Amino acid sequence: MAEAPFGLLAELTHRCPLRCGYCSNPLELVRRDAELRTDEWCSVFDQARELGVLQFHLSGGEPLARRDLPELVAHASGLGAYVNLVTSGLGLTAERMADLRARGVDHVQLSVQDAEPGDADRIAGVKAFGPKLTAARVVREAGLPLTVNVVLHRLNLDHVGGIIALAERMGADRLELANTQYYGWALRNRAALLPTRDQLRRADEVVAAARERSRMEIVYVIADYHEAHPKPCMYGWGARQLTVAPNGDVLPCPAATVIEGLGVENVRDRPLGGIWFDSRSFNAFRGVDWMREPCRSCPRKEVDFGGCRCQAFQLTGDAANTDPVCSLSPRRELVDRILAAETGPVPVAMRGVGR
Ligand code: SF4
Ligand code: FES
Repeated sequence: MAEAPFGLLAELTHRCPLRCGYCSNPLELVRRDAELRTDEWCSVFDQARELGVLQFHLSGGEPLARRDLPELVAHASGLGAYVNLVTSGLGLTAERMADLRARGVDHVQLSVQDAEPGDADRIAGVKAFGPKLTAARVVREAGLPLTVNVVLHRLNLDHVGGIIALAERMGADRLELANTQYYGWALRNRAALLPTRDQLRRADEVVAAARERSRMEIVYVIADYHEAHPKPCMYGWGARQLTVAPNGDVLPCPAATVIEGLGVENVRDRPLGGIWFDSRSFNAFRGVDWMREPCRSCPRKEVDFGGCRCQAFQLTGDAANTDPVCSLSPRRELVDRILAAETGPVPVAMRGVGR
């Protein structure tokens, strides 16, 4: 029997004012008229709390694009959940922040694209740097803890020292530096975003030194294509967290729609608890019994859970294969070929839908 989930990623909408080429949301975004209504989201929150979920991450797209965000925050907080607002910061005024705080936001996670305004706005595809400084200020003035989140790739990895300094100036308590994960739109831009080994080595050194001296907690998510072992994706499929997409699809991980034939179910058709415990999609790769060799007899199988199911599907066509990032995978050469081929400057295709 599975354990109860710990966290809910509620993707309230796919609408977003930014156009980042590293966006990991699906190629096909959920349209506004297909989004769950306010009462449906409130019901999702009720069901999640009943299941035992303690942390609600209100995300998107841009959650501020939902006019009913204050109501949703109040409902989530009223259930006793810890409410994390995951935002681009665009449109986060002092008044809105004060209101959201009063209604129960506990923490804000703010995305940043790069250290300097020109570079950052080029990556975001809009003038976002200034509004993000404002957003960081209003979060701090509201007395809330702030995490700055930065997706790293070839275009900004060399600026990681400046990015750390910027997060410190913004007053962040925590900085998440996450190398790009190649799902959804980002996969399309992989050739433009993949960093070089030299870039990664230099960034590793800068991050290690900053961790020694900075008062911020710095979390660093590695570039897994370049590693010998895969990431422990989601800390196991259907183990800790569930995602509800804007249209009510319930996903074992945010990218799971890439896996064809998974049998994703929707909260409009079945209660959340039934989907978490009994659905085919959540049980497909839960635990370790589904594993094939070399994972099945590997001592790391409870450490990395065989890597990422979405990556295994995207790169090998079968989600039950060992993540080909693993050096023990018989398909590792797929990743090596990508690394050897995709190292030149290529333009980034900006995300252009759902705005
Ligand atoms: Fe992880 Fe499987 Fe590779 Fe072992 S063989 S390290 S369990 S991905
Ligand atoms: Fe889906 Fe890793 S992103 S399992």
